[in-house]
Amino acid sequence: MSVATKPAKKVDAAELMEQLNAETAKLNAWIRVEANAPAQRPWFADTGGATGSGTLATGRVARNQMKMQAHRWRWREISPFLFRIAEIAREAEEKPLERTDRQGILLTNPGLGGRLQITNTIRCAIAIYNHGDIAPAHVHSPNASRTILSEKGGYTNVEGERCECKRGDIVFTPNGTWHDHGNDDPDPMIWIDMLDWPLMEYLDCVWVDQNYIDEGRTNAKSQPTLHSDGHSTRMYGNGGLKPVFTSNQRGWGQKSTPLFHYKGVEIREALNRLRKEEGDPFEAIKLEFVNPITGAPVFPTLQYCAQLLRPGEELAFKRETSSTFIVVMEGQGFSEIGGQRFDWEKNDIMAVPNFMWRRHVNTGKNDAVLYTVSDSALLRAMGQYRSQGKDAAGKVTQIVQ
Ligand SMILES: [Fe+2]
Repeated sequence: MSVATKPAKKVDAAELMEQLNAETAKLNAWIRVEANAPAQRPWFADTGGATGSGTLATGRVARNQMKMQAHRWRWREISPFLFRIAEIAREAEEKPLERTDRQGILLTNPGLGGRLQITNTIRCAIAIYNHGDIAPAHVHSPNASRTILSEKGGYTNVEGERCECKRGDIVFTPNGTWHDHGNDDPDPMIWIDMLDWPLMEYLDCVWVDQNYIDEGRTNAKSQPTLHSDGHSTRMYGNGGLKPVFTSNQRGWGQKSTPLFHYKGVEIREALNRLRKEEGDPFEAIKLEFVNPITGAPVFPTLQYCAQLLRPGEELAFKRETSSTFIVVMEGQGFSEIGGQRFDWEKNDIMAVPNFMWRRHVNTGKNDAVLYTVSDSALLRAMGQYRSQGKDAAGKVTQIVQ
């Protein structure tokens, strides 16, 4: 004889599992209560809208989830603080630089919880040095560069190469190269430091050595000049011609450029020579800084480019799986990033998040020149670089897939 069974009372699984989760926290474990752990929830989708498909998750394991945001730092708001720093340093009994080794402002992305980074992989600092200031010789694993904003003054020594700096110059200090900086000019000198430090930090791969040893002296602040200013250009600035009488290995790092110093004047002339070309609908006239020996990006992690937008030029929307830093070297206009409009002028800085739609427009009567740094080099090396374009009708096309 069959016995009629009473249906079991349904339990609220989600609630009960959340209660269990309060206990598993002590064991450093988490019971899955959502489809996909929140931190792994897809942030992008090919079918996503203008800002991507992501929203920040909630709950214990999502607590530390952070996503960079599109942002612009206005030069007219940031620069007064730089000059104030320089003034304080001039008047101080003990120079702040003696304790900090560097002097300036680090930019923080509003989406990244106060971390010293503007994207997931890139750190950006704006440095100011008074006459006589020296940032002592050191070497580290993060790749770095200087983008010079001052008209003149200042120098960087890299592996014994003296790089006298002017506005628009880029000086690379790759992984494993000794470098020091200073300013012999009467006026303060300003430049932007860019580094892949956050990436190296994530990988626990940061090392720094400050103990420069020069002919028996320790902690010499500045390296002796082994190669005079212009060495990089003489050796590697002859397009299509590479020196075969040296190893072209400079410093200890691997796969980085031996060309350390690009002059702003030469970058500008190169862009100008191409101004009659049609250019790219998403990028206009754009040049990449490459390792002259291999043609690869200057660093295995970061791609550096200079971009010319002619007067009135309006670019189409593009998005890339990489994140991008932009500094406006010339001109005025605006960028739309993730549905937000950012007007820009000389020396303004912007951060473009991964896979977020963006376009740039030159609204001025003169040229606009943008310098960009992105982690697309890393993503390409990992097989993760993709980019898409979107036309005025909203049709999405694959650029790189
Ligand atoms: Fe450094």
